[in-house]
Amino acid sequence: MTPTNERMQLLDLEPAASDFLAEALAGLSSQPRTLPSKFFYDERGSDLFQEICRLPEYYITRAETEILQLHVAELADSVGANAELVGFGTGAGVKTRMLLECLADPIAYVPIDISKQRLLDSAAALQLAMPHLEILPVCADYLQEIRLPQPSRKPAHVAVYFPGSTIGNLEPPVARDFLRRVNRLCGPSGGLIIGVDLQKPREIIELAYNDAAGVTAEFNRNVLVRANRELGADFVISQWRHRAIYNDQDGRIEMHLISESDQTVRLGGQQFHFTAGDKIITEYSYKHTVEGFTALAASAGFRLARTWTDPQQLFAVFHFTVPD
Ligand code: AVJ
Repeated sequence: MTPTNERMQLLDLEPAASDFLAEALAGLSSQPRTLPSKFFYDERGSDLFQEICRLPEYYITRAETEILQLHVAELADSVGANAELVGFGTGAGVKTRMLLECLADPIAYVPIDISKQRLLDSAAALQLAMPHLEILPVCADYLQEIRLPQPSRKPAHVAVYFPGSTIGNLEPPVARDFLRRVNRLCGPSGGLIIGVDLQKPREIIELAYNDAAGVTAEFNRNVLVRANRELGADFVISQWRHRAIYNDQDGRIEMHLISESDQTVRLGGQQFHFTAGDKIITEYSYKHTVEGFTALAASAGFRLARTWTDPQQLFAVFHFTVPD
């Protein structure tokens, strides 16, 4: 261990296995049947997601990275000096590092992620690259209310960075509540930098979530592998087929696991019956318009400062501020 790693203190609020069990039972008992998408990200799932980000069909990561490559200096300028940067689900941290390296005198970086190993690995790598930056990692489900650690120096303002279009996992009313909480966390003169996937022709979106190599299918089925291992469920993995469908009415991709046969699954002392063709919804990923998302954020108290899009208008990065 290097001294910089020892200096880094993890605040561990990792959800317990009992939370996973309770949410899985509730989801499988509801209509339509669901499993929560946040449980994709165990170690295997996090690795598969990294692989998804490199797929030729998955334009999201490339488009967002391109926006940063083109505009990170403007973005950093818009955020301003002496900020405390709070990163929500920043994953491998490639984009965050691009931003941090451009910020004027950042006071601290507080990455929050549900995947503990990925969080620690990326925080350690960042600490090596930026030895003078105070990094305060928090392992938590950031959809819950969390009390964040205090940096040792007082920031001029808090800037929340939420890349990757993960906000798309939330249905609009839930997204609004979440954004209200983020708004309170930012406080007066704080800001939010958020990456959002944009609405576009169905074919492009469906290809991105039904890749030819089958990585997304494996990512989707991994939640069943995890339920078997961590919750003692008995899903027969080969009896579940992946399918992602764009629902253009609601502007969202829906990830489904389709039962290939009539089967019964045991989980937490309960039995769940599936007929061939029955589905479990594992994820919604909403696609927004620039106007629609601006209105959603405004309803949570944010004022639009700037937006950036990639040349193909696939993706948008917004900077919102909190009026004093
Ligand atoms: C991490 C939620 C942004 O919705 O595109 C990728 C997850 N699911 N392929 C997305 C995901 C299937 C991803 N987010």
